[in-house]
Amino acid sequence: MGKLQDKVAIVTGAGSGMGLAIATAYAHEGAKVVLADINAETLNKVEKAITEAGDTATSVTADMSKEDDIKNLVKEAVDTYGSLDILVNNAGIMDNFKTVGNVSDDLWNKVIAINLTGPFLASREAINVMKDQEHGGVIINNASVGGLFGARGGAAYAASKHGLLGLTKNIAATYGTFGNIRANAIAPGSVATNIGNSITDPDPLGGQAIAATGANDSPMGQPEQIAAVAVFLGSEDSNFVNGDVIKADGGWTAR
Ligand SMILES: NC(=O)c1ccc[n+]([C@@H]2O[C@H](COP(=O)([O-])OP(=O)(O)OC[C@H]3O[C@@H](n4cnc5c(N)ncnc54)[C@H](O)[C@@H]3O)[C@@H](O)[C@H]2O)c1
Repeated sequence: MGKLQDKVAIVTGAGSGMGLAIATAYAHEGAKVVLADINAETLNKVEKAITEAGDTATSVTADMSKEDDIKNLVKEAVDTYGSLDILVNNAGIMDNFKTVGNVSDDLWNKVIAINLTGPFLASREAINVMKDQEHGGVIINNASVGGLFGARGGAAYAASKHGLLGLTKNIAATYGTFGNIRANAIAPGSVATNIGNSITDPDPLGGQAIAATGANDSPMGQPEQIAAVAVFLGSEDSNFVNGDVIKADGGWTAR
């Protein structure tokens, strides 16, 4: 019996990095995983790897900044597996460390749309399913230490991840306190994924501020180490944990 046996879980951004590791770990723990990503090619590879290992997964191509895609994703999960027990809002992008003075409207709007509005829309859809289930459900938001401190990304990234933690706590305080839906967040530090490839035009001042936190010397985690936290938060082992944020940064921000 896995820790997530027969749970139906959506994992967004499942084509790479932490989403891939979380989806793989969830499937390994017995969950039926609905993989979502904007990149259909990587998504199909992940689905193939999981099902070839004998575990259960299906995939839905979705842009998590588009409400229609999000509605379709949740509908597909329920139509395919009959319920929705866990939503992992993991998909996210960085912002080249752009400071307030240098961030364009387009970049700001894109980062907020994917990192914050997407999780809000997905949570709304998921809660509409979970609130009618006797056993409720679990929402896990993959935030960042950038949601707790000012200089772990640019202005849009910091704002989106701080907002994501606020959203997490609000869901916990309402649907957790007066319902049966838990919501928690993970705040990873530096993790070895593909997200670094998007830093193609780093803002000099933003980069300087991040370097001043010791980022270049921060412990480097592996996606599987974050997936282990996501398994804990998705499972009954954490059934008294609600509205919390678990930092997983190898001690970087404890310095
Ligand atoms: N890697 C780190 O050091 C780090 C640290 C803290 C937090 N995070 C957060 O972890 C999450 C996962 O990032 P990662 O490091 O694994 O990155 P990654 O780039 O390896 O994977 C992100 C995945 O999200 C997908 N994605 C991007 N935009 C999307 C969209 N609009 N709709 C659907 N899918 C989309 C990408 O295609 C990709 O498969 C992000 O929210 C990120 O902000 C990362």
